[in-house]
Amino acid sequence: METERLIMRPLTGSDFDDYAAMLTDPVVAEGLVESSGTTPSDAWRSLATFIGHREIRGYSHWALVEKSTGSFVGRAGPWQPHGFPGLGVGWCLTRAHWGKGYATEAAAAALAYCFAELGAEEVISLIRPGNTRSISVAERIGHRHLRDVDYRGKRVHLYGSSRSPR
Ligand SMILES: CC(C)(COP(=O)(O)OP(=O)(O)OC[C@H]1O[C@@H](n2cnc3c(N)ncnc32)[C@H](O)[C@@H]1OP(=O)(O)O)[C@@H](O)C(=O)NCCC(=O)NCCS
Repeated sequence: METERLIMRPLTGSDFDDYAAMLTDPVVAEGLVESSGTTPSDAWRSLATFIGHREIRGYSHWALVEKSTGSFVGRAGPWQPHGFPGLGVGWCLTRAHWGKGYATEAAAAALAYCFAELGAEEVISLIRPGNTRSISVAERIGHRHLRDVDYRGKRVHLYGSSRSPR
């Protein structure tokens, strides 16, 4: 997969150093619905979960790589672990790459993949209240706030899009 400015390829164990640098940043971690800590060990378990999700589901978040530099930008893609309330798309960028439009670029490609390749009728995203940057990404890809739900002990916004416009 690629977009205008990004390569989207499977996450691998070799991404660990970059991945850990991203997730041990508390400002990044505080936005994440799935966050379970900010230590390198927590990041390792997170990376293993995203790699394992591809093994189990056949899809997962991709590593995002900046075409112009080869730098690791973050991750984004389809996501539906056990207990998740639908097929999701998610996004997370290392802070140095915020403010460039990369999350929206990757999220739009991931959403299109869910409709075209996974045959989804509806695709959702769970977002913590107050995560205004993430809400903006959701709205830019055409998601609408549908309802709030309890997920893993937190009350979160559920945004979503349908294959056919509502
Ligand atoms: C949520 C997150 C991915 C949003 O990142 P972001 O950089 O704000 O979002 P985008 O990549 O879409 O970039 C949009 C910004 O880039 C700007 N931009 C600059 N150049 C651009 C370009 N060429 N094209 C589009 N936008 C561009 C936009 O104007 C916008 O700026 P603004 O924030 O001042 O309005 C990021 O904050 C993050 O990783 N947070 C931590 C993890 C997290 O919360 N994940 C979401 C869980 S639900």
